[in-house]
Amino acid sequence: MFANDLIKEALDAGLVAIPSDPHALTKMINDASPDSKAFPTTMAAYELGKRLYFDPRLSKSGIISCNTCHNLGLGGTDGVPASTGHKWTPNPHHVNAPTVYNSVFNAVQFWDGRAEHLMAQAAGPITAAPEMAATPELVVNRLKSIPAYVAEFKKAFNSEINFDLVTTAIGIFERTLVTPSRFDKFLEGDKNALNEAEKKGLKMFIDKGCASCHNGVNLGGTLQPFEVAGKYEFANVGDFKGDANGMVKAPTLRNVELTAPYYHNGAIWSLSDAVKAMGSIQLGIEINDAEAASIVTFLNSLTGTMPKVEYPMFPASTDKTSKPELDY
Ligand code: HEC
Ligand code: HEC
Repeated sequence: MFANDLIKEALDAGLVAIPSDPHALTKMINDASPDSKAFPTTMAAYELGKRLYFDPRLSKSGIISCNTCHNLGLGGTDGVPASTGHKWTPNPHHVNAPTVYNSVFNAVQFWDGRAEHLMAQAAGPITAAPEMAATPELVVNRLKSIPAYVAEFKKAFNSEINFDLVTTAIGIFERTLVTPSRFDKFLEGDKNALNEAEKKGLKMFIDKGCASCHNGVNLGGTLQPFEVAGKYEFANVGDFKGDANGMVKAPTLRNVELTAPYYHNGAIWSLSDAVKAMGSIQLGIEINDAEAASIVTFLNSLTGTMPKVEYPMFPASTDKTSKPELDY
């Protein structure tokens, strides 16, 4: 009885399952990927995108890949407060790397929502000076100097290598990084997929008002007002202040157990503290230790099944491949 009511309550609160049906899942991913009609998820594009995601030669130094800061073994993050890129440079705004898992389902990308989808997003870090510090020319020339990459682009896109296709391929790989969990089974009607403590936590999550911002398939991923009810204690760490209207992307809560430290500047290490701070900053309520523990028990049920990603081997550089520039 309780479980049936709770499923209804969760659905009414706007929580959405990652579908277990593969066709429904494919449709959901494609609907969230505006480039999926022109660039469908084919095996060849997936393999190429995966290789590029892991290949550090896309960076000026030759040592930084997407996986450096979005480590697929670490919940899709780097586990440090502010991401560190080229020449050991911390992110200039001191922002934390969000997870790439399920990022395809975010309505907007980046903490201030400045990119709409993954393909638009990927150009940013490759060329950002404090991240991979490359230029589109450097990336294209490096890849063109490697015959196996020339052949792979031809096979995946029937095209020569260009920078847009580099970011497109990486975005196609990222589409596949979705992590269904027991919570999804529960929402789909499997009453025993969550245990009693997790169900209590879910109820608490809804009753406290968390789902008013953390909703949809990602329990987040949309721009929301920040500091609605109170100040963020660590607001002065870094200079990030949200978008022009002070709005901040509510992070997905999927796999949040794996993605400490928390908040845009990674200033909070404990998930329980992160939940309690949400109470005072966003809801104007005090969440006590027991309530926070209950919500965290629910949040831990959002840790999903990670897709199997086989670490790729990279084709050899040639005499024509530009040398790493470490800028010591
Ligand atoms: C030096 C560390 C670093 C590297 C390398 C890096 N990123 Fe990021 N990534 C970040 C940070 C920090 C943010 C948040 C930036 C912001 O919001 O201003 C981010 C944001 C993102 C987001 C948005 C997710 C969200 O929820 O908003 C995606 C997707 C992403 N990166 C994918 C990539 C891909 C693909 C690559 C490789 C081409 C890459 N990143 C390379 C640090 C990095
Ligand atoms: C008014 C909208 C809103 C409400 C209500 C809200 N949140 Fe948030 N939440 C956000 C935003 C926006 C952020 C990002 C804040 C930042 O980092 O600047 C966030 C961040 C978080 C984080 C940190 C995640 C990470 O990866 O860094 C957690 C955990 C969290 N919220 C859980 C909750 C819980 C639990 C509740 C209910 C007690 C709740 N939130 C209520 C909007 C909201």
